[in-house]
Amino acid sequence: MSALYFLRRDADLSARNTFGVAARAPWLLEVFDTGTLAEALELEQIAGLPLLPLGGGSNLLFAGDAPGAVLALRAAGMRVLGEHGGRATVRAEAGAEWHALVMWSLDQGLCGLENLALIPGSVGAAPIQNIGAYGVEAGERIVAVEAWDRQQGTRVRMDRQACAFGYRDSAFKRAPDRWIVTAVEFELARDAAPRLDYAGIGEELAAMGIAGPPSAREVAEAVIRIRRRKLPDPALTGNAGSFFKNPIVPAAQAAALLAAHPRLPVFPGDGDGSRKLSAAWLIDACGWKGAREGDAGVSDAHALVLVNHGQASGAQLLALARRIAASVGERFGVALEPEPRIVGERW
Ligand code: EPU
Repeated sequence: MSALYFLRRDADLSARNTFGVAARAPWLLEVFDTGTLAEALELEQIAGLPLLPLGGGSNLLFAGDAPGAVLALRAAGMRVLGEHGGRATVRAEAGAEWHALVMWSLDQGLCGLENLALIPGSVGAAPIQNIGAYGVEAGERIVAVEAWDRQQGTRVRMDRQACAFGYRDSAFKRAPDRWIVTAVEFELARDAAPRLDYAGIGEELAAMGIAGPPSAREVAEAVIRIRRRKLPDPALTGNAGSFFKNPIVPAAQAAALLAAHPRLPVFPGDGDGSRKLSAAWLIDACGWKGAREGDAGVSDAHALVLVNHGQASGAQLLALARRIAASVGERFGVALEPEPRIVGERW
């Protein structure tokens, strides 16, 4: 076998998912050079089996074992492809760590990713759920995604429009078995006004003693401080960030809920007729924050984050998530949907 990829039988996945739940895969394929991906996928042991691409394992819940083969892309290069008129195109391979890319881009003097600092996971996973935080979504900075199209058996380069980004959504997420993201291209700026729309950033910058317009690095520092305070560190307590998406509902429903619950945070939806509600607030209002059933629980720092206090199984976490969603549905008439991919079970 070529040293550019490596196939292992019966792999333990417990250290490969940030929930830290026990799970196994019949096969684990690690690919170190993306140029050999097509060849590796033809290996007779795994050809035709279900394939689960796995990045940092920070946005999935193993409710059971992975069927077939798990694929880990290891190539992690980052480079500036070109620069023109104060804007640089940057290419990063799927196996790079997202936060490493953010810090590297700041080291290059490039702005645009600073609001997305400290998000766990890999570059390859970023476009799939269009990661977003503090007023910016990755899709706004992505100009193209390179992927292996399993349906066509070809390498493709999809521009931003073809990626069809939405809130925590993309073409890749809607057809999870079709594409394997191999690299992502971003357009970043030498100098750009920071995005400070998310109220907490301004407050954090003030607390840091930064008066005038902040640098991109200072914005990243503010985001890192907020995240460290609000979100449990997956290295210490198993979690996958927000477990539920903020629900998008018709404007009339949001207005009725707001009339009954004046403190409910309501944000613009994806069009005039819709609004985004705070799932964290709805869950908190149902009394779930800090709740615990065995080792499966809800973070006491943030109601949207499910946590594994130690030995929780994926099935126990999923059962807790279902109870939370059922209680929010009953009390507010709003359906919550999970944000992470659930492996081995249907929501
Ligand atoms: N809130 C509560 N209880 C809580 C936490 C929050 O009532 O325990 C209310 C507060 O009123 C707060 C509001 O919910 O003002 C919004 O909370 P927050 O600012 O933390 O944002 P979020 O909507 O809960 C989203 C993303 C996060 C992202 C933050 C910041 C989703 C599903 N989650 O959370 O992303 O970091 O905004 O931009 O969109 C992730 O996707 O894994 C993730 C962590």
